Amino acid sequence: ESTANQQLIELHEQAAKLYHHILVNTEMGEQALDYLHDRGLDDEIISTYNLGFAPDKRLLLPFFQERKSDFQLLRQSGLFIENQEGQLRDRFAGRVMFPIRNQSGKTIAFSGRMLVKADNSPKYLNSPETTIFNKRKVLFNFDIARGASRQTGSVTLFEGFMDVIAAYRAGIKNGIASMGTSLTSEQIYAIERITQKLVICYDGDDPGQEATNRAISLFSNQQRLTLNIVQIPEKLDPDEFLKKYGAEKFQELVTSAIETPISFKMRFLKRNRNLENESDQLEYINDVLQVLATVSSPVEQDLYLNQLANNFGLDKSTLKRQLASIVPAKA
Ligand code: UTP
Ligand code: MN
Ligand code: MN
Ligand code: MN
Ligand code: MN
Repeated sequence: ESTANQQLIELHEQAAKLYHHILVNTEMGEQALDYLHDRGLDDEIISTYNLGFAPDKRLLLPFFQERKSDFQLLRQSGLFIENQEGQLRDRFAGRVMFPIRNQSGKTIAFSGRMLVKADNSPKYLNSPETTIFNKRKVLFNFDIARGASRQTGSVTLFEGFMDVIAAYRAGIKNGIASMGTSLTSEQIYAIERITQKLVICYDGDDPGQEATNRAISLFSNQQRLTLNIVQIPEKLDPDEFLKKYGAEKFQELVTSAIETPISFKMRFLKRNRNLENESDQLEYINDVLQVLATVSSPVEQDLYLNQLANNFGLDKSTLKRQLASIVPAKA
């Protein structure tokens, strides 16, 4: 790392420390601390993740000026927004702060969650790209997940930071999340380097299922990772499921209620279709055969062909003939 980058990391470490102090020790942080307690986070997990609170837009500048931090460095840090007069104001205000760490566990960025609903600002606000924060590469909690994956032999991919943190509390410490975007090739590469098995545990709602489907496609070009998909019931997200049903039920879910990518697809293709209706049935069967045509293992193909034949009371040899006539679409 260049010294400038080291100094930027140092700024983030100091900011994280200050935000955390405000959250846990001051009156300014009371509302945010209550919020986190209400969401089921105890003081231990709040410390583990060094969560914080950013009270208003005039916190960081005087703090860093007192420490004689270089103004150009502050400008480049992403912690501020610059107005037309060249003055700096804190980027984050009135937000619960989630430090984003690099692979060495150092804070390189933040995501701030709004505390009170506001119409025209995002629920989560992320730091901008900087020389130390490459959004294409960073995965939330990657440093902890890497260590935990040595025990579990797997990594669990969640949609949100709160899902990762809630899962950690429930004993599932191998969780990661992207920064609210779909996975990049750089992130996939980083995941492949630390594990052979990825468990996708996105939200159970429709956007979460769509995102699962997209994630599966992103991984379809590689053979190294085995994918498992967890379906969270009742359109809940993992954090909500944990709150409603507890840690034990959640562990059960992520270790036993798992699907292969193909069984996920077979379920996913049923959405928006009425399978009582024959034309919908035919479309569905054809779509599934298209998917099965991309499966290279004959055993795997056979397994799902059996399921399809049984589901619709069809002759398997008929399905096989139709399958043979499909030229697989490149995934
Ligand atoms: P969700 O909308 O599922 O939020 O977005 P969540 O994680 O359940 O958040 P809580 O429980 O309400 O606190 C999933 C992820 O998408 C990103 C965040 O990373 C979030 O965790 N996101 C969402 C953003 O970056 N910006 C947003 O405005 C919303
Ligand atoms: Mn409280
Ligand atoms: Mn979601
Ligand atoms: Mn969610
Ligand atoms: Mn949530």
